[in-house]
Amino acid sequence: MMRIAARKAMDADIPCMVSLETHMACGLGACLGCTLTGADGHYIHVCKQGPVFNADEVAWTL
Ligand code: FES
Repeated sequence: MMRIAARKAMDADIPCMVSLETHMACGLGACLGCTLTGADGHYIHVCKQGPVFNADEVAWTL
């Protein structure tokens, strides 16, 4: 649902922020358990850099 909402907002050129949830083991940026792929191809740590991101920062692959 988050992916669809983000896609519709981006298609309509409407700024969109998303709050993401994932499993977090350390919460410090050390274990890489919460990583997602960013739109630029780099990993993003949901625990440390988020959990709120601009929708266009995330690679929406699923
Ligand atoms: S929870 Fe360990 S890096 Fe984010």
